[in-house]
Parts: sequence; structure tokens; C-alpha cells
Amino acid sequence: MAEVKVGLQDVVVATSGICSIDGARGKLTYVGYDIGDLAAKSSFEEVVYLLWNGRLPKLAELQELRKELAANRGISPEIVDLLKRLPPPQHPMETLRTTVSALSLYDPEAEDMTEEANRRKALRLTAQMGTLVAAFGRLREGKEPIAPDPKLNHASNFLYMLQGKVPGQAEARWFDVALVLHADHSYNASTFAARVAASTLSDMHSAVTAAIGTLKGPLHGGANEQVMKMLLEIQTTDKVEPWVHQLLAQKKKVMGFGHRVYHTEDPRATVLRKMSEDLGRRTGQPKWFEMSKKIEDLMIREKKINANVDFYSASAYYVLGIPVDLFPLVFAVSRISGWTAHILEQYASNKLIRPLAEYVGPTDQKYVPIEQR
Ligand code: COA
Repeated sequence: MAEVKVGLQDVVVATSGICSIDGARGKLTYVGYDIGDLAAKSSFEEVVYLLWNGRLPKLAELQELRKELAANRGISPEIVDLLKRLPPPQHPMETLRTTVSALSLYDPEAEDMTEEANRRKALRLTAQMGTLVAAFGRLREGKEPIAPDPKLNHASNFLYMLQGKVPGQAEARWFDVALVLHADHSYNASTFAARVAASTLSDMHSAVTAAIGTLKGPLHGGANEQVMKMLLEIQTTDKVEPWVHQLLAQKKKVMGFGHRVYHTEDPRATVLRKMSEDLGRRTGQPKWFEMSKKIEDLMIREKKINANVDFYSASAYYVLGIPVDLFPLVFAVSRISGWTAHILEQYASNKLIRPLAEYVGPTDQKYVPIEQR
């Protein structure tokens, strides 16, 4: 029997020039640039350029990309109409999955597989993801969507379209940092799903739709929402300890902890911890950070398991006023940049992704006609 690597754990399936993770040292780089440096010094737009082009932009190139992203943020009236007519979802990720898929029906280049057309689609999808999420967030509250403001950067514009007011400087900068941190993460499950779809030479919208469906799961992009639900249920810092002990005694997982690749602290959590603390203080809601910190200390002490990207982003997004069930969608607002970079890379040197499975079912069965079963 061939060796089976369950969950493809530790299996290297391809080469990629986009993102590297050193799980032992807790190091993450985009095209060789350390994530801590990018979080401190860069912007989402600059990271998008880096992921798509494999190098940092010159000033004029960055300005051009900013302009193009801003110019492509608008969604068509047909898509707004679709958002209005779709039934309320059981989870907002259903609506995002459906509307992103629907975007292809209105994209004249949907089936154009030239590199130029694919790059333009990557731009449109990245520009429009936030608009879709914000429009959905407002429509379900009975409010009209807010048109994007081309003067705002991607991060500020998203919060503006969602909340109807331009965020303060600190809030806008921290949200930009969060977008930088979530932009890519190598062959994570949703990116892998996107690449599998792209490897059949299916179109970009199909590959992104596959990625959104994959991100939706609570073991991936759904974890940040589950973290906040847990904090809201615990409610007070003094209840943290018995709560965590009970979960662990029941052999349940504490959401926002553990990682397939990192065996030490996730470097994104290092930055998001600061974001959660700072925004908690600024918004007069330090409690969520304090509770989170206590949970983290307990998890390290009792289980030696570190927080991942979804742990502190939960409390940070909450105090930014983002509705809890939109957290996984906010993940997609950023990760669309990485997905599209990977899809472009897949198309550029494609090989159909088609692994094997070791068959363990019954063998040599004799077919019995249906009336004799
Ligand atoms: N809480 C409690 N225990 C955890 C845990 C968590 N969040 N994550 C892992 N563990 C424990 C498991 O119970 C298991 O213990 P065991 O060996 O005694 O059975 C061990 O650590 C290995 O976990 P496993 O789920 O097999 O590892 P994995 O590599 O398959 O899973 C995750 C990685 C991310 C799916 C897993 O850590 C998890 O489910 N985390 C919570 C969801 C989450 O935050 N996802 C976002 C990831 S960025």
C-alpha cells in the first residue's frame, strides 16, 4: 500500500514564487518580504502589486494600480438587483459565493483566457469583492448600498461603504494592516482549491468561487467568526478560565488556535494582537482584548497551542464595528489578491492537479440484479 499523507500534511505539491512560510520559525514572507515589514511599512494596494507582479511597485506604478482599483470598484445595477432579490442566506458567505460567481455573467472577458484578460479580471475581482460585501451588509439592514469613493484607499473605502462614514486615521490604518496580513498564505485550503480549479483551465471566476466555498469552513476562514461568538458567549474575563477548561475537558477545539504549518506563533497573530489591543483601547472596549489575552495565555500554558490569524482579528474587527457574521467575508476581501495571484501563476505554468487515492473499499464484488438485493 502506498504511503497515504492524510490531509496532504507536509506534502509539497508544487513550486511557487508568491509566498513562503517557515512553520518552525514562525516566518511568513510575500515574494521574500517579511510580513512584519510589510505590515509596518506597506499598504494593501502595494501588496496586491507585489503578489501579482513578483516585485514592489515604483511610485508611478503604485499610483496607477490605486487608480485602476478605485475605477473598478463599482458593481453593476444587475448585481445590486441580484443582491436585493436573493433570499436571506443562512450564512452571508453563501451570498458572496453566489454573487462572485454571478459576476462572470456580466464580465465580457469571463471566458477570455489570455493573460491580459486574466489580469484584468483579477483586478476587477479584487476591486469589487469589498463592494459586494459592503452592499450586502447594508441591504440586509434595509439600507441602500453606498457607492465607492475613488479618493479613499481600499481599506478606508471598504469601511466607508459598509458603515457610511469614513473611518478615523488609526482605524483605517489598522484595517489596511489587516488586509496586508490576510492577502496570501501559500497553499492554504482555499488557495489550493482555486489552483485545482484553475489547473483544469477553468475560468478565473470559477476558481475564485471554489476558493470562497473552501474559505467558508470553520476550520479555515470561518474561524474568526467563531472566535467572536465564543467571546460574546463567555462575556466576562472571570468566566474565561472555566470556559476554556470545560472546552478542553470535552476535547473540543478552541477556535483561533492551532495551525497546520506553524509550530510556533503565527507572525500575523503577533501584529493582530497589537491591533486588537490598540483598537480596543481607542474604542473604549478593552474587554475583548483582555479576554482574548487570557484565553491565549491559558492555551499556551495548558495545551502549548498558539493563536492563529483568526484569533485576534476577531476582537479587532468587532471593535471596528464589523458585523460578526461578515468576518469571513472580510477575509475574502483581502485574500482575493492572493487567490488571483495564485490562479495567474497556475495558468502561467499549468499542469492538471490530479492526485491519487488509495482504494480501501470492497473488491471483487459480484453484481446482483436489483430485484434480488
Ligand atoms: N484547540 C484545542 N486543541 C487543538 C486545537 C485547538 N484549536 N487545534 C489543534 N488542537 C489539538 C488537536 O485536538 C489535536 O490533539 P490530539 O493530537 O491530542 O488529538 C492536535 O492539536 C492536532 O490537531 P489537528 O486538528 O489534528 O491538527 P491539524 O493540523 O489537522 O489542524 C487546524 C489544524 C487549524 C485545523 C486546527 O488547529 C483547528 O481546528 N483549529 C481551530 C480552527 C481554526 O482556528 N482555524 C483557523 C486556522 S488559520
